[in-house]
Amino acid sequence: MALIEARKLTKIYSQGESVFGAKPRGGNEVRAVDDVSLDIHAGETLGLVGESGSGKSTLGRLILRLIEPTSGSVRFEGRDLLAARGGEMRRLRRDMQIIFQDPFASLDPRFRVEEIIAEPLVIHGSHGDQSASGIRLRVRELLGAVGLDESILRRFPHEFSGGQRQRIGIARALALHPKFIVADEPVSALDVSVGAQIVNLLAQLQRDFGLTYLFISHSMPVVRYLSTRIAVMHRGKIVEVGTAEQITERPAHAYTRSLLEATPQLAL
Ligand SMILES: Nc1ncnc2c1ncn2[C@@H]1O[C@H](COP(=O)(O)OP(=O)(O)O)[C@@H](O)[C@H]1O
Ligand SMILES: [Mg+2]
Repeated sequence: MALIEARKLTKIYSQGESVFGAKPRGGNEVRAVDDVSLDIHAGETLGLVGESGSGKSTLGRLILRLIEPTSGSVRFEGRDLLAARGGEMRRLRRDMQIIFQDPFASLDPRFRVEEIIAEPLVIHGSHGDQSASGIRLRVRELLGAVGLDESILRRFPHEFSGGQRQRIGIARALALHPKFIVADEPVSALDVSVGAQIVNLLAQLQRDFGLTYLFISHSMPVVRYLSTRIAVMHRGKIVEVGTAEQITERPAHAYTRSLLEATPQLAL
């Protein structure tokens, strides 16, 4: 059994719906994700690559049930995610987290680093320990895991660079010991060298904590560096899935070949 089994997922946006600030392509409906079935295995990084607008973020959010599909199903460890209610859904949410592209927009500017990282712990508890000292201990542990110093705890997000902000977002995502993380273009807003550090950090955290990733990027070199397998998305459909080597060395689909040609090599 795969950790995640997505089956025949379809998401049709009707015009006017604008949850993530994206604009529809025109017409009344956008078939953002079109009949997608996909397995994600425990411990792997599945790279999801495709040009802007191909439906990657929508698919990532469907898999986390941050948005509801028009049709289709998602199983997490065999459990029907879309049928989960109340307490069961809250427990499932702890296991599945998201890291966003823009660490500027995703961290609340009114809160200090300490509060941002502690928030999920305050809401859910740190392994049952909701005492102030238990939470403080866990926040320090998390800072260490993402390579940040304790001296930043009292500061605010705007005081940091993009790379540091992304580390804060990652620490927050790790707070509840998740099993699965969707990283939605986590390095696309960063300079190449800073992005490379974040990619290496994600790889390290995967080894340390046995995480499973859906790693979304429009850049084939970035996806290739981190991924066990790669799924290529085009106009709402997965056109090809294979090992990272298959996809980059022996692409079967013309669209995959065009993505490989379009992207210059990245020094990582
Ligand atoms: N909330 C929304 N309302 C309407 N259309 C949307 C919404 N979010 C995304 N879209 C549209 O769905 C398609 C896929 O978008 P998205 O999943 O963001 O793709 P990607 O992440 O690959 O850039 C695009 O045509 C986009 O404009
Ligand atoms: Mg996107």
